[in-house]
Amino acid sequence: MTHSKKILASLNGETQKTPPIWMMRQAGRYLPEYRATRAQAGDFLSLCYNPDLAAEVTLQPIRRYGFDAAILFADILLVPQALGADLWFVTGEGPRLSTITSADDFAKIKPADAIHEHLAPVYETVKILARELPSETTLIGFAGAPWTVATYMIAGRGTPDQGPAHALMQGNVEVFDALMDRLTEATITYLDMQIQAGAEVVKLFDSWAGSLNGPAFQKYSLEPAKKIIAALKAKHPTVPIIAFPREAGDGYIGFAKATGADCVALDNSVSAEWAAEKVQVDGCVQGNLASKHMVTGGQALIDETREIVKAFSGGPHIFNLGHGITPDADPENVGLMIETVRSC
Ligand code: CP3
Repeated sequence: MTHSKKILASLNGETQKTPPIWMMRQAGRYLPEYRATRAQAGDFLSLCYNPDLAAEVTLQPIRRYGFDAAILFADILLVPQALGADLWFVTGEGPRLSTITSADDFAKIKPADAIHEHLAPVYETVKILARELPSETTLIGFAGAPWTVATYMIAGRGTPDQGPAHALMQGNVEVFDALMDRLTEATITYLDMQIQAGAEVVKLFDSWAGSLNGPAFQKYSLEPAKKIIAALKAKHPTVPIIAFPREAGDGYIGFAKATGADCVALDNSVSAEWAAEKVQVDGCVQGNLASKHMVTGGQALIDETREIVKAFSGGPHIFNLGHGITPDADPENVGLMIETVRSC
């Protein structure tokens, strides 16, 4: 292996017999120890801004399962909050933010370099993790991609079809573009600080990339990713970057080459066979077991896991789910997935 850490070996283009594995939302409500620490912190945001407790929940799935990577515990919506938006979480419903629908709303958004004071606890969490993680475990930092974060800032909440963001793009493109530019800048400086604090890899979550089509996908998912990656590579040429343009479909093809990403994370709406042929030809891919198997388990979990490992066995691969694990998942099924991957 070219690297002592399995995740870094895959990200550097190495094909491994057994792929490394981690899981989106691996620190989360399906784990009793997470629920206990979250209760101690109070609410979700208090947990995000408490470096000792945020580091603790990041470490919990590493202790329980020995995943090959730990992902910083935080949220993509901390950046809008640091830019001056109000943010709160409604139990059972999800995030709420103050909305941006006009030039006046945008004028209240702070400049990108003003985010660091607010986000200092996140950098502290990264520093603790860099110190405390086992030597074989890779520390992944992350941010939301500008489009995905913008969809929440414009609507003030999660939306099924990102309608309000599309409406602003069509109705007031000056404000929409100004917001996208501000978020691109903020994402660059935020990820730069995470790397300086000790993140070894960073991942860009474009969870709503799938609602952008054709030229809009190029302009608002691919182009910002390219800008962010170029800026980070100029400062940190050896730090690998994972891009996740979720549900991009054909948009996954050539995405790594076009943006400079070292790895493309795949959701489970594309088959592993298709992705091996169309996407993995350009380098490392991550994914893509459906999260439902963490709820249902059994032989289907084992069969599907083996199929994915086999389909991607001809090139660099990091095993993961196609999206985050859900709160109703059974922790035993996570163990079964890991055991299956490691015995392939
Ligand atoms: O992967 C990880 O474990 C790292 C931490 C992480 C979280 N959120 C923790 C979290 C990451 C990378 C995210 C990303 C995130 N957050 C995204 C993009 C990825 C994706 O899943 O599509 C989005 C869209 C958000 C915004 C957000 N945060 C939503 C929609 C929710 C769900 C609200 C709810 O009540 O279910 C959150 C909350 C959240 N983020 C939780 C966790 C562990 C659950 C919080 C809790 O109640 O304890």
